[in-house]
Amino acid sequence: MSFDRNGECWCGSGKKYKKCHMAFDDKLELFKKRGYKLPTKAMIKTPAQIEGIKKAAVVNNGLLDYIEERIKAGASTEDIDKWAVEFLAANNAHSADLNYQGYPKSICTSVNDVVCHGIPSEKVILKEGDIVNVDATTEVDGFYADASRMYIIGNASDDAKRLVEETKKCLEIGIAQVKPWESVIGDIGKAIEAYAHKCGYSVVEEFCGHGVGLKMHENPYVYHFNPNEKTELIVPGMVFTIEPMINQGRKDIFIDAKNGWEVKTKDHKLSAQWEHTLLVTETGCEILSK
Ligand code: MF3
Ligand code: CO
Ligand code: CO
Repeated sequence: MSFDRNGECWCGSGKKYKKCHMAFDDKLELFKKRGYKLPTKAMIKTPAQIEGIKKAAVVNNGLLDYIEERIKAGASTEDIDKWAVEFLAANNAHSADLNYQGYPKSICTSVNDVVCHGIPSEKVILKEGDIVNVDATTEVDGFYADASRMYIIGNASDDAKRLVEETKKCLEIGIAQVKPWESVIGDIGKAIEAYAHKCGYSVVEEFCGHGVGLKMHENPYVYHFNPNEKTELIVPGMVFTIEPMINQGRKDIFIDAKNGWEVKTKDHKLSAQWEHTLLVTETGCEILSK
């Protein structure tokens, strides 16, 4: 790609290329010569796109807070979906999940041995001791943010609480690997996997973090294990999720044939997940949605 020094920058800032992303692109070229795999331009968001993604993130955070205030024993996962529908409508926002490849609800509610993509249902009533992941992806004016949290219902077992806490630690350890111009995407998973194994847990490999912003799912894949392959250099402007799914027992999963969506642990032991949407900055990263 060649750019005119005095022309407008490709990022849409309206500034001259030489005053905007020229030094950035030169730096990328330097890393390419050193043998790094570079992120594509689509993985690097422009200032205007970042502004849009941040607005979606504010609503997504508000939605998970709204759920946090209401979730309790006796509520059904269908109730959680209703709260999501009501919050999104009040905030002129949309669920990216609804109708995504035929997905029937506005959020995912994954209880106990459900790893992810649990479908809200009035038949699933939360009870004391359950651990629940609520995953929400919100769209505002064509921009997307994606996050999930664990909620512990009442008093849970020490084992369940430990899994929830250590899974959050896995996410934090992954985030600590986000070092612009220094680390690569694969470093994130390598660190998460090492920590999860140290805890005696396993990492689900079938589902990854992902670029996000103009769609719910974009490149790159963000692995939660050591991918053992060349992965993209992390640079400012990238927006992606980290969302490790950590199992108490074995890593093996299956998809429930009843609905074609719900992912469960094969050994029916517990699974937990936390997800943040991150923006890579010059010095580290900013958590946009959590
Ligand atoms: N929020 C999920 C993710 O973290 C994806 C939702 S899948 C859907 O990538 F089917 F529910 F939309
Ligand atoms: Co995600
Ligand atoms: Co998500």
